[in-house]
Amino acid sequence: MKITTINGSPRKNGCSEKLLSKVREGARDSGIETISFIVNRMNIKGCQACMFCKQNKGCIVKDDMAEIYMAIDQSDVVVFGVPIYTHEMSAQLKTVFDRFYLYSRMDNDFNFSSTMKKGKKCILIISYGNHDKNIYKKYAESLVTKFKHVGFEEVTVFVASDSMNVHPEYLESCYEIGRNLC
Ligand SMILES: Cc1cc2nc3c(=O)[nH]c(=O)nc-3n(C[C@H](O)[C@H](O)[C@H](O)COP(=O)(O)O)c2cc1C
Repeated sequence: MKITTINGSPRKNGCSEKLLSKVREGARDSGIETISFIVNRMNIKGCQACMFCKQNKGCIVKDDMAEIYMAIDQSDVVVFGVPIYTHEMSAQLKTVFDRFYLYSRMDNDFNFSSTMKKGKKCILIISYGNHDKNIYKKYAESLVTKFKHVGFEEVTVFVASDSMNVHPEYLESCYEIGRNLC
């Protein structure tokens, strides 16, 4: 089994990175191979809306997104660090998400399908400063729908509110998430 973590936060040792590193630690303790990316350190352009991917295999933009496509292809589970900046996912992560358009197929009746290999699971670790556990409930639900649209078959969410204090129970829970992946 293999997992990939993709951190959308630019903060070195921020909440997302602390929680993702615990997921990786738990996963490794279960003998799971891990790959990790920090989007902010990569060279990834926004989607060019050229539709090349609808007629051809792959993306016409040759940049570090190729590494993420390959890692997703090889992984059973992809864990995203989703920091909330101005009430939504960071711009870094949105840039990656837009590039997932490569997987999307749509028929004339606007029915979506995906070219992503079947059976992949995704976990969204959503971190934000507000103390209210439920304040982004609707947004989290919309993210679940969006990540399913691009082809992840199962999408689950872990919420870390009050993220300026990375609570020990968050670290423990994320370790357990990684430990119990297989
Ligand atoms: C530019 C910016 C915008 C933010 N906007 C929000 C927000 O809308 N709601 C919120 O609860 N927290 C907000 N925060 C706080 C972050 O969500 C919080 O710092 C979180 O820990 C970010 O994850 P990270 O530590 O992995 O970067 C914002 C922080 C920054 C820097």
